[in-house]
Amino acid sequence: MDSRIADPALAPSGDRKIEWAWSAMPVLRHLEERYRRNRPLAGTVLSACLHLEAKTACLLLVLKELGASVFASGSNPLSTQDDVCAALVRRGVSVFSRHGMDMAEYEGNLRRTLSAGPTIVVDDGADLVAMLHSEMRDELPRVRGGSEETTSGVKRLRAMEREGVLAFPVIAVNDAKSKYLFDNRYGTGQSVLDGLLRTTNLLIAGKTVVVVGYGWCGRGFAMRASGMGARVAVVEVDPHRAFEAVMDGYDVLPMAEAAGRGDIFLTFTGNTRVIRREHFERMKDGVLLGNAGHFDVEICKSDLQGLSSSVEESRPGVTTYTLADGRRMHLLGEGRLVNLACADGHPIEIMDLSFALQLEAAIYVANNAMEPGLHDVPPEIDRAVVEAKLASLGLVIDRMTEEQEAYMRSWRE
Ligand code: ADE
Repeated sequence: MDSRIADPALAPSGDRKIEWAWSAMPVLRHLEERYRRNRPLAGTVLSACLHLEAKTACLLLVLKELGASVFASGSNPLSTQDDVCAALVRRGVSVFSRHGMDMAEYEGNLRRTLSAGPTIVVDDGADLVAMLHSEMRDELPRVRGGSEETTSGVKRLRAMEREGVLAFPVIAVNDAKSKYLFDNRYGTGQSVLDGLLRTTNLLIAGKTVVVVGYGWCGRGFAMRASGMGARVAVVEVDPHRAFEAVMDGYDVLPMAEAAGRGDIFLTFTGNTRVIRREHFERMKDGVLLGNAGHFDVEICKSDLQGLSSSVEESRPGVTTYTLADGRRMHLLGEGRLVNLACADGHPIEIMDLSFALQLEAAIYVANNAMEPGLHDVPPEIDRAVVEAKLASLGLVIDRMTEEQEAYMRSWRE
């Protein structure tokens, strides 16, 4: 079995992380139990590009258990955990990834993952789908379909669909309610703070935290930062979201103004160069800069570099840029996803839901004929996943009576 990882001897540490995660993923465990006998993925070749940490390993192992041959690459050079990769390889998954790889190695690993000849692709950020539609078109005819984990990936897939080039069906896991309401909001809310705290050991209370982008992720983080005593200021381009931020009790202001006010800046936009030269020029000494968007394009590193007279690593995960006038700006996790580059990603119980959806999406794609293009997670699956979560917590919810159901369907009073 072909693999390219940092060090197979790290497997025991990876095993411990995987066992820990597995014990807090009741929905995934329930699905594995449910499908184990039928093996609905038998005969599929599944190529994944995901953040290779312990929760993801649990998903990949279930996919394998249900019959798929699994090939995996990391979806970010800094989110790959080498010990987890080693444990995966020992358990029969082909892994092509290494923590800290450069972009050439990263792309080479995507190619290796796709060279397996996938019938299903599972993406986080749409890199596999993009590569299949550009330099690896020979692999396209075999692909039945795929699924996409994240907002940034869905944005890219929508662009492909608009241009009429998306050649197979992809399920937008990100857009399921069981995903974005929990993963994007509460997952990001906690994991971004986790990355910030682990790398800096600094206080949040009393600081002005600038949240750039008030989608589900930005909202979740703003809520948690505010809960820890930060003064939150929001930068938005969408008027409805901006007004939501006002209604949630935050200041709303343009980046040009926020730049001079903030102590901590976090980006959640999915867009490019949202913090750039003109903003760095106005910032205070000692600001923290972090990104939570999928790609490392939101904080313009080349502008920061261009303004700096020296650059050094002041703590693991913290790069300090010193400007000509002596002001220091601390960039977390090289401007890559701070929750995965500087911590372990979202909490386990949250990824339990997201990866249950990924598993169901893979099974659905493998067993149903679908038109090319982006598809929603079927609503019955979305509902079943959150119901399984509630059941795992021992929670029971109400049902409408027949009378109430009829009332809801009728237009008479
Ligand atoms: N862990 C694995 N994948 C993740 C993701 N997309 N976001 C946060 N944590 C994760």
